[in-house]
Amino acid sequence: THRLEALGPLRGWRALVTSGPTHEPIDPVRYIANRSSGKQGHAIAAALARLGAAVTLVSGPTQEPVPAGVSIVQVESALDMLAACQDALPVDVAVCAAAVADWRVKATASQKLKKEGGSLPALELAENPDILATLSRAGRNRPALVVGFAAETEKVVAHARAKLARKGCDWIVANDVSPSSGTFGGTNNTVHLLRGDTLEDWPPLSKEEVAQRLAMAIAEHLVGTG
Ligand code: CTP
Ligand code: CA
Repeated sequence: THRLEALGPLRGWRALVTSGPTHEPIDPVRYIANRSSGKQGHAIAAALARLGAAVTLVSGPTQEPVPAGVSIVQVESALDMLAACQDALPVDVAVCAAAVADWRVKATASQKLKKEGGSLPALELAENPDILATLSRAGRNRPALVVGFAAETEKVVAHARAKLARKGCDWIVANDVSPSSGTFGGTNNTVHLLRGDTLEDWPPLSKEEVAQRLAMAIAEHLVGTG
């Protein structure tokens, strides 16, 4: 591993990674979000940079330090994340590891909503754009390799196959987050890498190990075809 890293197989290649949650504002002090530490996305950005890639990391709010040698674009909402990703194009590979909020509040209040009066606010939601699907269908700007994630609690591989087809990406890292897998909040991940029709079952690995393996697979793919 270290010898291959030293060779810098991804030198000259450009990568885009999304990470963390997005925060969708309700008013100036409240938001809707998914749970995400950003650990996996940040680890992937770090691993690609160690292999020599020029990495842009577009991240929602996280506590994670910015990995060495990575250029960071910090965003809050899904709309901002999409715009930052489009600004980062063209790239050779995009890895979408962010836990993007599926919905945003249609009309964000400019002042803090007040409880007084006792009536509940009716939050009208709008669906957020799918960043992974947008990148996968970016026409002449489409990255040569687009990788998504799928965190599933049941029928992990079947759902991941359906997601890959629906979003038009090339690979999906399917993550078993069922309570029985012990994944959520834990240190080890049980993932399956779906490359088109080809399925690879990976052993339980730390997020750093998943990142390292994925970065190596990306390097082999790009350098092999490029
Ligand atoms: N994704 C994205 N933009 C969105 C929603 C998801 O880029 N608005 C990406 C995620 O980064 C991930 C993949 O799509 O790589 C799958 O996300 P997931 O939430 O599992 O898929 P959804 O299509 O949102 O389906 P659901 O949440 O209903 O399972
Ligand atoms: Ca979702």
